[in-house]
Amino acid sequence: MSISIAIDGPAGAGKSTIAKRLAAKMNYIYVDTGAMYRAMAVYFTQNHVNPDDEREIDASVVNVDISIEYADGVQQVILNGDNVTAFLRTEETGRMASKTSKYASVRKKLVDLQRKIAKENNCVMDGRDIGTAVLPDAPVKIYLTASSDARAQRRFDELVAKGEQCDYQTIKEDIEQRDYQDMHREISPLCQAEDAVLVDSSDMNIEEVLQAITDIIEKKNARIATTKSGKTVILAESAGFCFGVERAVNTVYEQVDKENVYTYGPIIHNEEVVKDLESKGVRVIENAADFKNTENGTVIIRSHGVSKKVYDDLKNTGVEIIDATCPFVLKIHTIVREESEAGTQIVIIGNEKHPEVEGIMGWSVSPVHVVDTVEKAQNLALDLEKKVCIVSQTTFNYNKFQELVEIISKKGYNVSIRNTICNATEERQTEARKLAKRADAMIVVGGSSSSNTRKLYEICKNECNATFYIQTLNDLDLESLSKADCIGITAGASTPNNIIEEVYTNVRIKL
Ligand code: DC
Repeated sequence: MSISIAIDGPAGAGKSTIAKRLAAKMNYIYVDTGAMYRAMAVYFTQNHVNPDDEREIDASVVNVDISIEYADGVQQVILNGDNVTAFLRTEETGRMASKTSKYASVRKKLVDLQRKIAKENNCVMDGRDIGTAVLPDAPVKIYLTASSDARAQRRFDELVAKGEQCDYQTIKEDIEQRDYQDMHREISPLCQAEDAVLVDSSDMNIEEVLQAITDIIEKKNARIATTKSGKTVILAESAGFCFGVERAVNTVYEQVDKENVYTYGPIIHNEEVVKDLESKGVRVIENAADFKNTENGTVIIRSHGVSKKVYDDLKNTGVEIIDATCPFVLKIHTIVREESEAGTQIVIIGNEKHPEVEGIMGWSVSPVHVVDTVEKAQNLALDLEKKVCIVSQTTFNYNKFQELVEIISKKGYNVSIRNTICNATEERQTEARKLAKRADAMIVVGGSSSSNTRKLYEICKNECNATFYIQTLNDLDLESLSKADCIGITAGASTPNNIIEEVYTNVRIKL
């Protein structure tokens, strides 16, 4: 399986210079897709095709054959058997290419060719729509841009150095007009892909841009590997501890030297971590009454949070409380308390057995409605006279949340919707879905009772049938991955980094 690096951006941002240098450095081929649109433009100009007449364009596209070759590592564009590389960089050809690249027939022909090249070669490909349309699964996407002033100045200096007569203002206007055309065409307009990294080169020289992009690639590459047998292994960037969990686990480790340290419930849904803490003397209590028969000590409230009653009960025992509730969950407690005190009916989209939801429920002064299925949403019957506030468990699936909210919203209540799903969860789920779509096998690492890991598993299984849910490396059957060319790995918010690394490393070196 080949690897592609997609570089998009407006004309004159330095894409081709950078892409060429990068390709040479990485021993990839450089694919200049702009040159392909320019070659098409040469054909249209030579054959007097009217660039404003789509039918004329469509009729002539069928007569065009474009291919690329490499001479000393430099891309050559062959148009109907002739090498036209030397004629591509004129202003006239650039203008014609910008006008005609908007047509579906032109784009289809060239996008097919570009995808075929990327499938067969490791490449750095630059253009306008590489990350968004041509190679949406490219593991590295860069959006390289610069202000129109900076780009016009570079072009001006280039032409002056060649001894050509030129006018700065005309160059700038031309650049801006081309930007407008490229960004506003109907099909695959120039825009930054959601997962592309923006590099603004306005105040950077070539070496600095190259360094910045190399750093981005290296960071990504640490998570992309090719195995001995040629398989690609990709570790999701968002795999593992979220901020709230990391904070809670660190809080416990900071306290382990003290006498009588307790966590209220297992600190995270991960047996490995809980076992390790146990070995260091940390005990798990399940309710405040447990303290009646024990010595005083320190109790740490985990990231899931607890109900107001549990909090008060703990306080009454006189034990020292360290509250490691995730700040995002604390925010939900506040919403639920304030809204319910104002007489609003509370609906939580979440699993009522999950400790986070149990905790949230306990901050409402009135009964709470918990919904996690379409059926429950359909059957929900609330008081039409009172306002309704919908919040969500932080780790709930975003699409399912929307689906359930839509059902409830249609019932005619005065509803305020507070999407309290935390970004880390959403990002992890979106990345997992995308990775699972691309992969032939997917490994999801996490504790068996971690609800967010289970949701990740469901999302991945939906996209990739060969999805395996494992707690640690011991559960992984490497044989089951033998047929997969591309293997993705993700992990729940409560999976420690060392377990993820162990899985990633073993898959990488043993397959
Ligand atoms: O990058 P360039 O100036 O050589 O590109 C010439 C034209 O081709 C540019 O105006 C937009 C178009 N183009 C495109 O639509 N999609 C690409 N992937 C590359 C170029």
